[in-house]
Amino acid sequence: MVATLRGRAAFRRLEGDEHGGKGAHGMPGFELNGKNALVTGGARGIGKAIVAAFLEAGANVVIGDRDEETGTATAAELGAGFVRLDVTDSASLDAAVAHVAAELGSLDVHVNNAGTVINKPAVDTTDEEWRRVLSINLDGVFFGCRAAAKRMLAQDSGGSIVNIGSMSGHIANHPQPQASYNASKAGVIHLTKSLAAEWARGGVRVNSISPGYVGTELTKQGMSNEDWKKTWLESTPMGRVAEPSEIAPAAVFLASGASSYFTGSDLVVDGGYTVW
Ligand SMILES: NC(=O)c1ccc[n+]([C@@H]2O[C@H](COP(=O)([O-])OP(=O)(O)OC[C@H]3O[C@@H](n4cnc5c(N)ncnc54)[C@H](O)[C@@H]3O)[C@@H](O)[C@H]2O)c1
Repeated sequence: MVATLRGRAAFRRLEGDEHGGKGAHGMPGFELNGKNALVTGGARGIGKAIVAAFLEAGANVVIGDRDEETGTATAAELGAGFVRLDVTDSASLDAAVAHVAAELGSLDVHVNNAGTVINKPAVDTTDEEWRRVLSINLDGVFFGCRAAAKRMLAQDSGGSIVNIGSMSGHIANHPQPQASYNASKAGVIHLTKSLAAEWARGGVRVNSISPGYVGTELTKQGMSNEDWKKTWLESTPMGRVAEPSEIAPAAVFLASGASSYFTGSDLVVDGGYTVW
């Protein structure tokens, strides 16, 4: 019964203005007018670009990051809110979701973007290093999905969750060794599908984005290594890395009513890397 009612609410969204209204250029649904969003790891890099794009699409956005200094500066620069959180601590994600819902009235879009990488041969990776990567990249995404979904399932309008995976969840990068990262990102992609199936009838969509190499702090060290850089660029059909702003439109699409029949999907945005 609950699922049926929510299904109807979702259908109404397609016809009406709330989720499926006309975009700025008459493209139905390609906007986030009045939507309330939380973006983890939004202080810099891809997360920052997603925050900027969401604001441009009409959303109210709160950045959730463990780096308070950069996070508050980015929030002030872009016109977003800020809440300190550490994705490895589920209570801080629960509190951040409660904060956004209390301040803004609802949580319509949640992006699990915070992530980290360690480039180390598997045989030299310590237990602590393995757990640190899995804790941020996979536990953090699960904790974020669970916190957001509890709120979204309880509101008639449902919601959209976007997880930032990686092409590393599909392929093993070279030449750098990073088994912990690759495994964590494969986990994100399949967790996304599993949660999408569980929550679809509750009106909550869950999708992921798998970027290729993007020019951020995360890849700075790799790009400064001439051998790695050469291999990365030669392995990418487009011959370059992405700007963070080239990943953000996929997040706007998955957050918006334009993707209303998308759930459990993974959008690969990699300049063709996984084609070869
Ligand atoms: N840069 C790439 O080439 C690339 C490619 C594919 C996927 N990704 C993924 O995109 C996401 C963003 O990466 P980026 O390149 O912008 O990285 P980045 O290092 O520039 O930014 C990561 C942000 O996450 C925050 N963060 C890290 N750990 C956190 C924690 N425990 N709690 C809260 N916040 C935390 C950091 O403070 C930072 O603001 C990550 O999930 C990453 O794995 C990046």
